[in-house]
Amino acid sequence: MSLIAEKTTDLQQEIRRLVKERNAVMLAHNYQRDEIQQIADIAGDSLALSMEAARTDAEVILFCGVHFMAESAAILSPQKTVLLPHMEAGCPMADMITPEKLREKKAELGPDIPVVTYVNSSAEVKAESDICCTSANAVAVVNSLPGDSVFMTPDMNLAKYVARHTKKKVDWWKGFCPTHHQLKAQTVIEMKETHPGAKVVAHPECAPDILDLADHICSTSGMYAYAKKENAKKFIIATEAGILYRLRKENPDKEFILVSEDMLCPNMKVTTLEDIHEALVEMKHVITVPEDIRLRAKMTLDRMLAVPRD
Ligand code: 13P
Ligand code: SF4
Repeated sequence: MSLIAEKTTDLQQEIRRLVKERNAVMLAHNYQRDEIQQIADIAGDSLALSMEAARTDAEVILFCGVHFMAESAAILSPQKTVLLPHMEAGCPMADMITPEKLREKKAELGPDIPVVTYVNSSAEVKAESDICCTSANAVAVVNSLPGDSVFMTPDMNLAKYVARHTKKKVDWWKGFCPTHHQLKAQTVIEMKETHPGAKVVAHPECAPDILDLADHICSTSGMYAYAKKENAKKFIIATEAGILYRLRKENPDKEFILVSEDMLCPNMKVTTLEDIHEALVEMKHVITVPEDIRLRAKMTLDRMLAVPRD
């Protein structure tokens, strides 16, 4: 959805002017700072942003998110210029698996067990995989595969969540998102006691004992849909703090409480309006992927995009 705010600062207006001048589309992940989401053309989850990157006719994709997301855009749209405003915006979970380690694991697994890789991964790791998934389509992706076993990487929590919702045998790499994984069940229990009747909504990157306490488990975009349709007036949100901006904006009559102040991804917050402005002025940092890797990684993203959503 387009989020361009009615009242914007001079810097925000200058960014919008440059976006137009450069024939760019400004994509922002749901965890970006409020002032960035406010002026994005599209804000969304990893799946929605990948799909937008694949179909946009803009010449420049300004990706306000983390490195693997901009890389996915470069894989899907090699003819476009993909800009990542801050080069230190990485993803520690994506860094928990390397192509070498995945190749070793594949040799151990043999040829019959498909490797399903969360989009939170490098292009090289995607290139070593059979298919990608996001938190919005992981169950559907796993169910779409032949055979009765899959191996998921890098997020063990997403894999454990999928294992509960498929008949297939799911094995996994032991990676995790530090922001979601540090959340303790006791924190959720205490929040539920403090806010009786509130619905707990959790991202599948949380550990299974957290998901056991949730009323609803979904991707970041799934949270907007749930908040809108659910009759409850109060929600406890177990994902990164950036999600609150739009939840509150779109549902002014409902209350959204972050489960813990520690739900902050430093990588998602590193990008500022100043970085975005500089990126558009200097046309930096251009994200590219070597062609041989891009073609193999693209196949895994294309296979994912062809799977109907849950
Ligand atoms: P989604 O936006 O796909 O739910 O993913 C969350 C996330 O952690 C992205 O880094
Ligand atoms: Fe990576 Fe977690 Fe940050 Fe998402 S929230 S970018 S998975 S570290």
